[in-house]
Amino acid sequence: HYSIDHATLDKVKTAIAAGHIHADMPEYQGFDAYRADGGYIKLAELRDHGDWDAVQDSIASSGLRGLGGAGFPSGKKWSFVRSEEAPRLMAVNGDEGEPGTFKDRKYLEDAPHVFLEGMLIAAAAVDAARIYIYMRDEYPAAIQILRQEIAALEAAGIIAAGYVVLRRGAGAYICGEESAMIESIEGKRGIPRHRPPYVAQTGVFGRPTLVHNVETLVWVARICREGPQILSDVVKNGRKGLRNYSVSGRVAQPGVYLLPAGSTILDVIDAAGGMAPGHTFKAYQPGGPSSGLLPASINDVPLDFDTLADYGTFIGSAAVVVLGHTDSARGAALNMLDFFASESCGQCTPCRVGCEKAVGLMAAPKWDADLLTDLCQVMTDASICGLGQAAPNPIKSVLNHFKDEV
Ligand code: NAI
Ligand code: SF4
Repeated sequence: HYSIDHATLDKVKTAIAAGHIHADMPEYQGFDAYRADGGYIKLAELRDHGDWDAVQDSIASSGLRGLGGAGFPSGKKWSFVRSEEAPRLMAVNGDEGEPGTFKDRKYLEDAPHVFLEGMLIAAAAVDAARIYIYMRDEYPAAIQILRQEIAALEAAGIIAAGYVVLRRGAGAYICGEESAMIESIEGKRGIPRHRPPYVAQTGVFGRPTLVHNVETLVWVARICREGPQILSDVVKNGRKGLRNYSVSGRVAQPGVYLLPAGSTILDVIDAAGGMAPGHTFKAYQPGGPSSGLLPASINDVPLDFDTLADYGTFIGSAAVVVLGHTDSARGAALNMLDFFASESCGQCTPCRVGCEKAVGLMAAPKWDADLLTDLCQVMTDASICGLGQAAPNPIKSVLNHFKDEV
C-alpha cells in the first residue's frame, strides 16, 4: 500500500517534464559560475604548454593519495600510466558504495566542475584518449548534473563530443573494485580480475588506464590552481594534509567534515556536534565496514592512512560510524558480514562460502572463536580481491576489543 501526496506528485511530474530524473535537484555551481570564478583557465594553460613532469612533481609533493580509500600515492600512479604505451585511457570511480561514505556525492552535488577540471587535467597528464566515468546509480542527482555539465563542456568546446563517457552502475558494491568496475564499463559482469597486471598496465579494453576516485580529482584541480601547499602545509599530530570524514551514527550532526588528516576520533565527533543527546561514546567504525570496529578507549590516534595498522585496521574511505552505549558491537559486526555475504561476487570460494559461514557462526549465542579465527585466516589468505580479504576484519575486531559480548 503505497501512497504519495499530491504536492510531491506534482513536483515529480514537473521535474520529469523538465528532463530531470530526480525531483530534488540540489543547487550547485554550474558551468558559467565556475568559469566566472576562474575555472578551466588552468586546464587551458596546461593543455597549451604544460610541463607535465612539474605538475606530477607538484601532485607528489602535496602528498595527495588515492581517496577512494587505498591511499596509493597519486603522483606515482601518473608516472606508471605515463610510462605505458599509448593509447592510454582514464576511468573515474564514482561508485561510492562503501557503507557510510558520502563525501564524493557532496562534491558532485555542490561543485561538479572542480571535479571535472581535475579529471581533465589528469587525463591531459597521461594523454588519455577517452575518459569513462562510472557513476553510482543510487546518486540520480549526481548523474543528472554530470549529464548536463558534460554537455556544457562539449558545447563550450572544452572537450570533444564523446570524449567523456558516462556509465551508470547497477547497484553492485563489488563494481567499486577497480577491475570489476572496468569489466562493467566494458559491458561484462562486474567481477574482479587477478592482478598483476595492474590497471595502469592493462585496464579498460586492455589499454593502460589511469583510475582515480572522484575526490582525488577534486584535489588535483585544487592543487593545480592553488598550489601543493594547500595540503602539505596542514600539519596536525605529526600528519600532513586534509581528510574528508563522512560521519554518521550516534552524533548530533551527521555529515561530511573536512579536517586535518591528523584528527582523532574525538576531534571528528566534536566536529559533528558531539554525541547525539542521550548517547555515550562506545565504539566506532573508522573507515567502512572492512575496517571493523575500535573501542572508544582508542581515541588519541590520528585517523589517517597507515596510522591504524598497529590496531589491525585502516582509515580507508574515512567512513566514520559512531556507536553509542545502547549499540551492540557484535550486532554491528554481524550486519557488516551480512552485507559482505550479499555483495560477494561469488567468484572465489573463500569469500563466497566464507562470508556465509561466518554469518551463521556469528549468529550463535556464543561465538566459536577458534573456528572463526581459522575461517578469517583462510578468507584473508585466499580471496581474490579486497572484499573477501577484508571481510573478516569486523570479526577480528570484536574478538580483540569486545570479547565480553560474544
Ligand atoms: P590497492 O591498494 O590494491 O590499490 C590502490 C590503487 O593503486 C589501485 O588503483 C591499484 O591499481 C594501484 N596500485 C597498487 N599497487 C600498484 C602497482 N604495484 N602498480 C600499479 N598500480 C598499483 O587497493 P584497492 O583494492 O584498489 O582499494 C581498497 C580500498 O578501497 C580499501 O582500503 C577500502 O577502504 C576502499 N573502498 C572504498 C570504497 C568507496 O566507496 N570509496 C568501497 C570499497 C572499498
Ligand atoms: Fe568476488 Fe569475493 Fe572473490 Fe572478491 S573475494 S573476487 S568479491 S568472491
